[in-house]
Amino acid sequence: MKAKTLFYCTECGNELPKWAGQCPACRAWNTIVERPAESVRKKPGASVRSAPAGGLPPGSGRMPRRLGEVETTRELRFETGMSELDRVLGGGAVKGSLVLVGGAPGIGKSTLMLQICDQLCRFATVLYVSGEESERQIKLRAERLQIRDDGLYLLSESNLDDVLEAVHTLKPDILIVDSIQTLYNGDLTAAPGSIGQVKDCTMALMQLAKGEGVTVFVIGHVNKEGSIAGPKVLEHMVDCVLYFEGEQQMTHRILRSVKNRFGATNEIGVFEMADQGLVEVPNPSELLLSGRPQDTPGTCVTCVMEGVRPVLAEVQALLTPTSFNVPRRTSNGFDFNRAMMLLAVLEKRGGLMVGSCDAYINVIGGLNLDEPAADLAMVMALASSFRDKPIPDDLTAIGEVGLTGELRSVGALSQRLSEVHRMGFTKCLIPARGSQSAAVPEGLHLIRVRNIREALAALL
Ligand code: TYD
Ligand code: MG
Repeated sequence: MKAKTLFYCTECGNELPKWAGQCPACRAWNTIVERPAESVRKKPGASVRSAPAGGLPPGSGRMPRRLGEVETTRELRFETGMSELDRVLGGGAVKGSLVLVGGAPGIGKSTLMLQICDQLCRFATVLYVSGEESERQIKLRAERLQIRDDGLYLLSESNLDDVLEAVHTLKPDILIVDSIQTLYNGDLTAAPGSIGQVKDCTMALMQLAKGEGVTVFVIGHVNKEGSIAGPKVLEHMVDCVLYFEGEQQMTHRILRSVKNRFGATNEIGVFEMADQGLVEVPNPSELLLSGRPQDTPGTCVTCVMEGVRPVLAEVQALLTPTSFNVPRRTSNGFDFNRAMMLLAVLEKRGGLMVGSCDAYINVIGGLNLDEPAADLAMVMALASSFRDKPIPDDLTAIGEVGLTGELRSVGALSQRLSEVHRMGFTKCLIPARGSQSAAVPEGLHLIRVRNIREALAALL
């Protein structure tokens, strides 16, 4: 049997079998203390939080049941009034689920949550708890966003027990917590925002969701250095994890689902930050392609699947003769190793001597292309920059590139072609193999190629 843990770090909650001066996990000094006889918690009654996700207290003597004997009710969903968010959630929020909304500070998480209140408070009692802003500040923001005020309750509080008490008194259907890093349990000695606190408070909120059917939205900050305990440590606990991403300087924001117990992941929702708050962008391809340079070398458009939705993306490459011993390579929005592989394939199978070039690779609009279907467009952009010849403006390229330079077919080709056509492109470069069954929209000319040599010969 494993030895019982006797020591823990008050800073990060890390458990150790013996005392140490420095915590090996968070490297803080003098934070290891001996665990009090029973648990870290002072109040013994509060330990109901260790109950299983089903909401039943432990040790209630329940027997395992056959799968067929478990009675089910279809999950109840409700719409949040923002269809981009609903899609990312898999068709609306599920009643009694816990959704974590993560993102960098200032990206617009509080704004998004306050905006959905407008629709939610039409049919539900909503409690918005903020440990970051005063009720007055929230009200000012709500007025700016023109949020209706009936059915929406505000509470500026960061003590977990007070929040739970307010929930038990008000009995809201929906609880929004902004943010998990400011919420703290006074029974723990760790500082608010530390791993121990963040985990404990999330467990308590999970109990509310599973045990009492309250739908909970929790905001969690993520910072680049990862120095604050954030959504990452909570991903396994919650039902659904959404990340709100985007560049501070740019106005558009991408909401991405990375975990969803009730729907597909990799779905994205696109918003634009305006004076009146977040505005949905139902047609992201148009936004991502706006301002695309015409008749310029080094750019090519492709179509990737974001969940079930095809989205057009522009990939750019700049190749210049290097003045270093080792060529400089950077990649933004495209997997670095994959880009290096494509450069090698281009040299060996395409016959372009790119090995002595610096290569700068970029995907426009903060998109992250992690799909092999973008390979062909990347190869075309690289070759176009190398030869200094533009790719026709009305052309897109879709296909995976293998190590021998062969082109491989990709999934959901019909949907991609229809999106390409919808956005006004007239030509599409696709792999010859495996593309026979795809439905081709009228007016879209397909250029079928077997390998990158043929692709380069057809265009450059
Ligand atoms: P916020 O929702 O407070 O970010 P988070 O909660 O993720 O930290 O958003 C803050 C930014 O959004 C801030 O820089 C101002 C901008 N903003 C607008 O541009 N328009 C608006 O209507 C609102 C409410 C905010
Ligand atoms: Mg905020």
